[in-house]
Amino acid sequence: MNILLLGSGGREHAMACNIAKSERCEKLYIAPGNAGTAAVGENVALDIMDFEAVGRFAIEHRVEMMVVGPEAPLVAGIADYFAETPMLAKIIVIGPRKQGAQLEGSKDFAKAFMLRHGIPTAAYRTFTAATMAEGEAFLETLRSPYVLKADGLAAGKGVLIEADLATAKARLREMLDGKFGEASSSVVVEEYLEGIELSVFVLTDGMHYLMLPSAKDYKRIGEGDTGLNTGGMGSVSPVPFADADFMQKVESRIVKPTVQGLHKEKIDYKGFIFVGLMNVGGDPYVIEYNVRMGDPETESVFPRIKSDVVELMEHVADGSLNQCGLDVDPRTAACVMMVAGGYPEKYKKGQPISLGEDMEEVQLFHCGTATDGEGRLVTAGGRVICATALARTLPEALHRSYNRAERVKWEGKYQRPDIGQDLLRTMID
Ligand code: AMP
Ligand code: GLY
Repeated sequence: MNILLLGSGGREHAMACNIAKSERCEKLYIAPGNAGTAAVGENVALDIMDFEAVGRFAIEHRVEMMVVGPEAPLVAGIADYFAETPMLAKIIVIGPRKQGAQLEGSKDFAKAFMLRHGIPTAAYRTFTAATMAEGEAFLETLRSPYVLKADGLAAGKGVLIEADLATAKARLREMLDGKFGEASSSVVVEEYLEGIELSVFVLTDGMHYLMLPSAKDYKRIGEGDTGLNTGGMGSVSPVPFADADFMQKVESRIVKPTVQGLHKEKIDYKGFIFVGLMNVGGDPYVIEYNVRMGDPETESVFPRIKSDVVELMEHVADGSLNQCGLDVDPRTAACVMMVAGGYPEKYKKGQPISLGEDMEEVQLFHCGTATDGEGRLVTAGGRVICATALARTLPEALHRSYNRAERVKWEGKYQRPDIGQDLLRTMID
């Protein structure tokens, strides 16, 4: 079948590699894609928020399946648009409808959903400009640090963690005054959870689910988890501390009630669920849901998936995911992200990239790359390219991915030197 994958990052490059390998895939289009995806399928210059244009393309190119990489089109209702447009309704869409996408699109919706279904998460309350004084009073009942979350999508910047009560109150006022525009017209204030974070991924047909490999990402720009938040500076899969016992708790306390909750509430959900978790003394708590795969987690999770992902997605479409198992490579994947100097603040684009020599069992995934007018590979984003190595052990996977990353060169390239080091420490302890 012809498949259209929406998105342009490393997540999409990694997904495209698995999709293109499937015997079920005849032609793979990626919109808009990047220089890396152009080598796996055909890039198409579409604005993925222009649903009519995406729909027209799908009809003209006899697309039978559309896989949605990022959250924005899902939250804006691309799955609904396809389901409700007669010419498009037969196309399989991997990604939830607008209502299910609220799990990511509204923190308040997600928290209330968890409360209704007894899913462990931090205690919280939601405030608006009209209840600002109650919000300040609620902050006084909590212990430092204070967690404030813009209700809506805020490009990953909508969460503030403040140590000082007066500052937290001031930030709450700023948010409700429109610091993040419409996204912070409601603000979730919640209890701080102390622990180690990890990401768990689920593929669901709305009834049944498959748990995909777990991963950990590294959000801060600097060594030792310091400095500004980024889209993610690297990832590791599996997560050593997420052993069978912990994952059993994740499945029974979180994944099962989440999928059952969606089903009970008649929310038709076909796609990925990304559960951001905190391991608090051996017990999992949900920090957030996303309605898509993570980036750069996908770059270490997808290379480990040996099952035919297109077949799995066909089972998602017809509600028979219970007939599938998941074949996972037992090795460890480590992904090191290379970014443009200055990222996540101001950085240069258009720098020529030299990829260097390939290494066995190490893949490069393009995140922000393009081909310039002279046919050269150039940087086109903050996160530019990542190297993922598969190896028997975590130290070896890290060693190999850093080795490969060393060979990639452009002016101003930066990478975090300590991806995976915290996990190595927990393994020694
Ligand atoms: P989110 O956008 O919800 O993933 O939040 C961004 C980051 O803030 C998370 O990845 C966590 O590191 C942190 N965070 C969010 N909520 C909490 C919480 N309740 N306790 C501790 N850290 C949190
Ligand atoms: N790596 C975190 C995210 O994709 O949101």
